[in-house]
Amino acid sequence: MRILVTGGAGFIGSHIVDALLARGDEPFVVDNLSSGRRENLPPQVPLFEADICDAAALERIFTEVRPQAVCHQAAQMSVSRSMREPVYDAEVNIIGLLRVLENAARVGARRVTFASSGGALYGDVYEPADENHACDPFSPYGLSKWVGEQYLRFYARERQIEAVALRYSNVYGPRQNPHGEAGVVAIFSTKMLAAEQVTIFGDGGIVRDYVAVGDVARANAAALDPAQKLAHGFVALNIGTGVATTVSELASTMRQLAGAFRQQRGQLEPVPEPFYGPPRAGDLRSSLIAPGQAAATLGWRPLISLKDGLRDTIAQFGSAR
Ligand SMILES: NC(=O)c1ccc[n+]([C@@H]2O[C@H](COP(=O)([O-])OP(=O)(O)OC[C@H]3O[C@@H](n4cnc5c(N)ncnc54)[C@H](O)[C@@H]3O)[C@@H](O)[C@H]2O)c1
Repeated sequence: MRILVTGGAGFIGSHIVDALLARGDEPFVVDNLSSGRRENLPPQVPLFEADICDAAALERIFTEVRPQAVCHQAAQMSVSRSMREPVYDAEVNIIGLLRVLENAARVGARRVTFASSGGALYGDVYEPADENHACDPFSPYGLSKWVGEQYLRFYARERQIEAVALRYSNVYGPRQNPHGEAGVVAIFSTKMLAAEQVTIFGDGGIVRDYVAVGDVARANAAALDPAQKLAHGFVALNIGTGVATTVSELASTMRQLAGAFRQQRGQLEPVPEPFYGPPRAGDLRSSLIAPGQAAATLGWRPLISLKDGLRDTIAQFGSAR
């Protein structure tokens, strides 16, 4: 199947491209390379370097590729930038999405998956939230993801596009950008492998639901499979594990794994204990999502344990150094 992956040169998008290639699909990528990289993609995958807000470029690309399905990952994805620049956030995350959906409908693409967000939609939750949990977006980023889902519902009803919103929890894995404000696993991996001290904001009790990028890529591939019949034209599914991990627990497991990786390479300087700094304004105290509906709808379950996923991530960050 010909599938256009927006944001396909980024962290999650490039793993989706790998999963689609492995299944025998034909992925194409549109990406403005604002945070994505050509090197994330296998050389045979066509990359259109363009912005999803560029109406003329997007129209040309859709006309040339004529995708049968679209996987929409491109986004303004910084919560704090969305607080400072809500108009820019809406231009990329709402208007950009609309341009993608309009073009998908025009060329007859039958299915769209959309990278949504569990944490940004549900807010603070202490028990794993299912898809019926009230949505209470706390930032323009969360609002734009929520509005995006409503547009998907509209296109499913009015334009017969089957649409699947995948509400990711905290995604981690190889190729994640360690220089951003989020992506704690990428930041910790880079620092710990260099035996530098990491900073934990607050008391370390913040709870997150970490899902491996390989599992997220598999969820997208399953949602893009036309053999997966959807009961309704639109469905929103949580893509997480439901497993609670505090930042202190995460740091402790990663410190052991990074220390073992360094020792194997004869680097004997120990990885320092974390430094506990002041809490960061705006951080959710707890975010957890229940993945049961994705199992019932797509037969998808997370398969990669946190320890295995972290070991793999540290090994890949370590080899890239
Ligand atoms: N990483 C997470 O934990 C997480 C959690 C929930 C949702 N998401 C969503 O998943 C998607 C992918 O995120 P990621 O973590 O892979 O980030 P990423 O920054 O690695 O990927 C985003 C990609 O989109 C591209 N892009 C950004 N703006 C664009 C534009 N205007 N036009 C064309 N391309 C553009 C970037 O160059 C990059 O390659 C995003 O929609 C994000 O909101 C991520």
